[in-house]
Amino acid sequence: MSNPDIDIVPIEVTDDALVRSWIDMQTAVRRHDLPGMDLPLPGLQRLRLLLQPESIKVERWAARIGTTVVGSTTLVMPTQDNQHLVELELEVHPEHRRRGIGTRLAEFAERRAAENGRDTLLTGVVDSLEGAPRFDHSGQHFAKAVGYAEVDNEIHRRNDLAFIDEDGLDRLRADAWNRAAGYELVRWVSEAPEDLLDGLARLNERMYTDPPQGEEMDIRPAEWDTARIRDIERTMAERGQLQIGTAARHVESGEVVGFTSIAVNPGDEEHAWQGDTIVSPEHRGRRLGVILKIDNQRLLRRYRPMIRYVHTWNAEVNDHMISINEAIGYRPVCRDIDVQKKI
Ligand SMILES: CC(C)(COP(=O)(O)OP(=O)(O)OC[C@H]1O[C@@H](n2cnc3c(N)ncnc32)[C@H](O)[C@@H]1OP(=O)(O)O)[C@@H](O)C(=O)NCCC(=O)NCCS
Repeated sequence: MSNPDIDIVPIEVTDDALVRSWIDMQTAVRRHDLPGMDLPLPGLQRLRLLLQPESIKVERWAARIGTTVVGSTTLVMPTQDNQHLVELELEVHPEHRRRGIGTRLAEFAERRAAENGRDTLLTGVVDSLEGAPRFDHSGQHFAKAVGYAEVDNEIHRRNDLAFIDEDGLDRLRADAWNRAAGYELVRWVSEAPEDLLDGLARLNERMYTDPPQGEEMDIRPAEWDTARIRDIERTMAERGQLQIGTAARHVESGEVVGFTSIAVNPGDEEHAWQGDTIVSPEHRGRRLGVILKIDNQRLLRRYRPMIRYVHTWNAEVNDHMISINEAIGYRPVCRDIDVQKKI
């Protein structure tokens, strides 16, 4: 069917039946496409409809047949940088695929992007890896069919905390500290200490420029300040998300030279999500990355001892970060191909 009979409507948090049907559709998509992976958390999905940081504008749209949600698209639009960009999510219920619903949603998203003054859409599609679970590849074929080009590759890895060799990590950490004299760690949960904020803002800016990134991928530099960090922290706290952070500080100068963070979603005792990790260039090569990641993972385990998996994504060519992750136990799950369309 090339012209499916669907309505595309905004997802309003107060429309309980619509929101339920949307979450059911997302759950069916995950079960079908990524069996064994985490499922949407209904409470968090509802909170996401209510609460967003000021640094992004989010539009969520559902494709319905009658009252049943059969697909959806989300446009995440940065407001304080990258104002050309839409980070897109798009999914169709497995029982309603290959009838043109995805195409209709993609066309609709392009129209909304243009109406919001944006000319670049960026999203991810899944590719299975040898020796890892076999996942659904519809997204890859679809992205090509609707005009998206591959611009980068990331590997999704996860660390199974049930099999962590803590003695091995102790040795790795002790060895790393031999190379890291003159630095100290600062740890926090949910709210970073005030005196770190300027340093964290500078490091967050570097996340847009330092990690290797595909040449055609159009992500541009950003400016961060303390208000932006506090706003994100506050939004996460209001949504019940726990953020666990560790920073490295150069003792003599007081400079914040690196940080890492992990987020845990409300009501999830199984999965945690690695956020950014960065060490500033002048302080690299001193094993601060290893120390930060081991310590922050241990802080997570103190707060949420039942958490089983920590997930992370790295550009396939980011050898330094990957070797750190592999050393502390992360193993590949799948490849996420970044695909982009210019309109
Ligand atoms: C990708 C997805 C949105 C496609 O939805 P859909 O409603 O089936 O898409 P359409 O019917 O509009 O498909 C358009 C074209 O994409 C291609 N395509 C889509 N799925 C495909 C598949 N599994 N194998 C081969 N080609 C496929 C075909 O060329 C298709 O046209 P055709 O059916 O006339 O051959 C859906 O499979 C999905 O939700 N996947 C999981 C999430 C995801 O990967 N999102 C993609 C982000 S870009």
